Amino acid sequence: MKTTFIILAGGIGERLGFDIPKQFVPLNGKPIIEWTYLSIKSHPKVNEIVIVTHESWIDQVKKIAPNAIITTGGLTRQQSSYKGLLACPKDTDYVLIHDSVRPLLSHKVIDRCLDKLEKGSNAVLTVIPSADTLVEIENDKVVNIPQRSRIFRAQTPQGFIYQTILKAHETTKMTNSTDDGRLMMESGYDLDIVKGDPINLKVTQIEDLHTAERLFQSVSKKTEQEIDIKGKKIVIFGGTSGIGKETAIYLQSLGAEVTILGRKDVDVRNSQEIERYFEKSPEFDVIIVSTGILHPEKISNLSDDLIENTYRTNLFGPINICKFGIRKLRPGSHIVLIGSSSAYRGRAGYSIYSSSKSALTNFIQAASAEFSEFGIQINMVSPPRTRTRMYTDLHPNADPGALYDPKKVAKVVGLYCVGSESGHIVDLKLQTITHTDPTEKAYGGDQ
Ligand code: CTP
Ligand code: MG
Repeated sequence: MKTTFIILAGGIGERLGFDIPKQFVPLNGKPIIEWTYLSIKSHPKVNEIVIVTHESWIDQVKKIAPNAIITTGGLTRQQSSYKGLLACPKDTDYVLIHDSVRPLLSHKVIDRCLDKLEKGSNAVLTVIPSADTLVEIENDKVVNIPQRSRIFRAQTPQGFIYQTILKAHETTKMTNSTDDGRLMMESGYDLDIVKGDPINLKVTQIEDLHTAERLFQSVSKKTEQEIDIKGKKIVIFGGTSGIGKETAIYLQSLGAEVTILGRKDVDVRNSQEIERYFEKSPEFDVIIVSTGILHPEKISNLSDDLIENTYRTNLFGPINICKFGIRKLRPGSHIVLIGSSSAYRGRAGYSIYSSSKSALTNFIQAASAEFSEFGIQINMVSPPRTRTRMYTDLHPNADPGALYDPKKVAKVVGLYCVGSESGHIVDLKLQTITHTDPTEKAYGGDQ
């Protein structure tokens, strides 16, 4: 059976209000549409991808999706959708139609749609329950309040038998339907449903962009789950203890050649030491930075030393390692920094630690945009409170079971020692919460 995916990118994004169509706005290091395309392209059952876009954006889309069939859109979503259908290969059996501005589409949702079509459905909609009660309004008055348990929100993709949806478009009298399912219903077909995904949001308003940015940190978009780093030359700053040490052990067990550096080898607070180190060092495939100190203190008690030392170790150090280290990286190399889930919300006692990590988070985004020109990938793994001496020395009575396992952090760091992803900020605290695996504990605290 041949499956074609249509990605609709012919809108202008008026409600978002940027000066470019919203599907081309960057998110987590790439234009939104590129994420959407990649999540579809990597699905093994998708045979063709059709992208419907504006004439003036065709060259840009060709760069993002060199193997896709590209066609121009229409004035309404309905017209764009029809033009997409006309551009599908004629031997298409199943067609899935998707908004380009839903970049967080997972393979699971695609699987559910295809399963339903394979079982004989003509039309399948992905839906999620509505948290809000919806009300119907006419002339500024509420005329109907449907029972909430019967109300669902329709997302995309929507899946159809190709010939039937094509016919529904050709015969409809509607001109501005924002939904392909409606045309099928009008033609007398049953619409089946499968579970959508709350994360698969549509970027419509500015707040959706903020939410999507944060959600990206909760879903690892890594393609590999297995890594081959045998013989790779890796240097770990802050590799003598804590997460750095666990990472070194893990990567060595996979056959990497790991250089472990501690404070005594290179004092990262001093930029000249870093520069001197890289002047003499060999070339590396991966640089990992896990330097960090944590001395909780109330703001009124902050000493110059504490502020200076924390910022120099947690922020200036990693920045200078990137600045001088890239001289020793070839195209295709990687940098992985250890952040902290506390970067996103300040709390009492942690003003300097958390703000140093917060600044580093922003730095990564800029660095990934700049380093792409050298073919260097830079990513950040941000753990919640982790079972390391840095933490347990401060909180000797902490329940070890409530702390994140440093070995798990090391594995995620390992994933980012390979691959083409850049600019990812992986918040491990959100990952444990949003990927509700009942066997996983949710870790409440920030590191
Ligand atoms: N779309 C399209 N052609 C159109 C209108 C919309 O291909 N003439 C696509 C959009 O690019 C988007 C999807 O349909 O991927 C969902 O539409 P919507 O969120 O409404 O996007 P826009 O129409 O671009 O946004 P707005 O309504 O705020 O202008
Ligand atoms: Mg629109």
